[in-house]
Amino acid sequence: MLLILQGCDASVLLDDSANIVSEKNSGPNKNSLRGFDVVDEIKAKLEEACPQTVSCADILALAARGSTVLSGGPNWELPLGRRDSKTASLSGSNNNIPAPNSTIQNLISLFKRQGLNDIDLVALSGGHTIGVARCVTFKQRLYNQNGNNQPDHTIEKNYFLDLKSVCPKSGGDSNISPLDLASPAKFDNTYFKLLLWGKGLLTSDEVLYTGEVGKTIQLVKRYAEDEGRFFEHFAKSMVNMGNISPLTGFNGEVRKNCRLVN
Ligand code: HEM
Repeated sequence: MLLILQGCDASVLLDDSANIVSEKNSGPNKNSLRGFDVVDEIKAKLEEACPQTVSCADILALAARGSTVLSGGPNWELPLGRRDSKTASLSGSNNNIPAPNSTIQNLISLFKRQGLNDIDLVALSGGHTIGVARCVTFKQRLYNQNGNNQPDHTIEKNYFLDLKSVCPKSGGDSNISPLDLASPAKFDNTYFKLLLWGKGLLTSDEVLYTGEVGKTIQLVKRYAEDEGRFFEHFAKSMVNMGNISPLTGFNGEVRKNCRLVN
């Protein structure tokens, strides 16, 4: 979930300090975001070679593109020159990041609030072709999806049994399961094929296909059939997401240390 914040005018990288309440402790981010040490390492090398020139925001955008390419996904031209925010927003982080049990309507409206449309929503959700999620983020689907102690009936039967063995009704909250069970380390379109088969891990994944919104259903089918089209849209949507109110010119700063305001 780190990526979704890359374009915001508050910074998820800042630690708690006298004037900052870190976003790292927001509901969606706590015990979830990781890899800050890698950003620190990249920043330290850049500061050595060329002080205060490449912002932490650009480092994140470049790392997102680099990891996509290295895992087999598309490349794209990335607008650079973002500056770093001097603030964090715990409430912004709590209110603007979609929850894993979101309905399709929640997802559409939270993306819209950031200027992102249905294509951005479905294409960017394809980022879940990589990585894992903790049991606590999908437990509700397995045992009590709608408050009536019943599972989410859209989960495929055998997948449901597998997930229950990883994620028991009580405990096991930090056990993990791949978001794309077919190829969790390869950037490809199997994520969308799995959605057609009822094998999306999070509610927010599966509702792209089961949520009765024609546009997102069509897009899931299209991307499942045509990996090239998914790659093309993902690349464009990553640029759109990176352009959400970036700081430029004299706004913000280029930090020396990604965890601290200069
Ligand atoms: C559509 C709304 C989204 C929701 C509700 C969502 C939710 C989540 C959740 C709950 C996890 C697991 C976190 C954990 O267990 O700690 C996760 C992981 C992940 N998400 Fe998202 N996400 C969304 C959009 C995105 C987007 C747009 C991208 C990138 C383009 C993305 C990339 C990832 C990646 C790569 C992981 C795996 C991280 C890892 O293995 O450590 N997500 N997401």
